[in-house]
Amino acid sequence: MNGAASGWIDPATATMCPLEGCAIVVLGYGNQGRAQALNLHDSLKAAPRAGAGVRVWARAGGASARQALRDGFEVIDTAALGTGDLFLCLLPDEVQGAFITETLTPAVRAGGRPGRIGFAHGGALAFTELGEHLRRPPWVETFLVAPSGPGVDVRDEFAAGWGVPALLAIWHDQSGAAYDRALAVATGIGATRAGVWRTTVAAEAAVDLFGEQAVICGGITALLRCAYQTLMRQGYDPEMAYLECVHQLRLTAELIHRHGVAGMRERISGTARFGDLTRGPRLAEAGVARAMADILSEIESGAFMREWQAEVRAGSPRLEAWRGGIDQDSMEMVGRDVRAHVLRPEPSGGRRSGGSGVSGEQGESR
Ligand SMILES: NC(=O)c1ccc[n+]([C@@H]2O[C@H](COP(=O)([O-])OP(=O)(O)OC[C@H]3O[C@@H](n4cnc5c(N)ncnc54)[C@H](OP(=O)(O)O)[C@@H]3O)[C@@H](O)[C@H]2O)c1
Repeated sequence: MNGAASGWIDPATATMCPLEGCAIVVLGYGNQGRAQALNLHDSLKAAPRAGAGVRVWARAGGASARQALRDGFEVIDTAALGTGDLFLCLLPDEVQGAFITETLTPAVRAGGRPGRIGFAHGGALAFTELGEHLRRPPWVETFLVAPSGPGVDVRDEFAAGWGVPALLAIWHDQSGAAYDRALAVATGIGATRAGVWRTTVAAEAAVDLFGEQAVICGGITALLRCAYQTLMRQGYDPEMAYLECVHQLRLTAELIHRHGVAGMRERISGTARFGDLTRGPRLAEAGVARAMADILSEIESGAFMREWQAEVRAGSPRLEAWRGGIDQDSMEMVGRDVRAHVLRPEPSGGRRSGGSGVSGEQGESR
């Protein structure tokens, strides 16, 4: 890790006082936007700070704007952006740069208030030109409060009286108050109840991208598919392959989440434990460590982010090709049938809500 001291922030120092007088504008009302806006609103209702309030900016006529209105927020249009004192940028990473440089910065300049902005992930700050842009006027504070969990958990944990842990980092601090403001946001969304780890934006950006590529999204899905195909090639029923190699992942993930790897091993059968210890490491021998090192260095050099930006500029052809192939994909087709057969129906027949009795039409994402 480069530079700044890292460590757990003392929860006794958590306070929302630095939000006093802050007209907060949450930019985007998706996974994180909705959860953070609702949590901040509820926190400020429970412990009001003079002049502090939460409004939402979302695309006019979009699904998010409608949801924010249904949730009771004032949804402002672009012309009113200059009235904000603190922006939380919870738009997709790939649109942040253009929105901030072309729309938000001119509005902040025209509004004449100090430019303060927080993010929930540092990819665009660390690896694109946006980072330099936000170190120049009118911007005086740029920080990161990155929850270690999806928006739906940020809301559900908060509603249950707890929170999702977060990483906190400062990118630009001309006012000298960026850390206090970031901690106030972390407090308001409930993260300080669970734990906030101080780090740098560069470290958060690299570790977050690496984690999702090498393990929690890319690594896991590649492993599942490889195992499914191995059993299929040997003529085993695809339904059995799916149930064993994909469907049961939840159990392992939950055990590791709650008890760690050793704790998970203590809770599985002796046969499973022996197979895990003696066979698992063989999978990581065949070039996986080298591939992981390559993936990390592509992230650190900015090559991954350049590739992603080029993909977006080209209209996301690789993402669209994947979407177009889902209905012909054996593992997906079998999975749909198996899940329809074995999963307990959800009471509402829909997806999980955003908690606190607020009806949710948005699902969870990483
Ligand atoms: N997913 C998570 O839970 C998670 C976890 C940790 C950190 N993060 C970080 O949180 C940030 C937000 O991610 P997210 O997953 O919450 O995003 P998301 O759910 O995809 O958010 C979409 C929001 O952005 C709006 N939007 C989409 N494209 C837009 C455009 N071109 N111009 C203006 N608005 C646009 C959408 O509005 P419409 O309805 O109008 O399309 C919606 O309000 C990212 O930095 C991400 O890395 C996310």
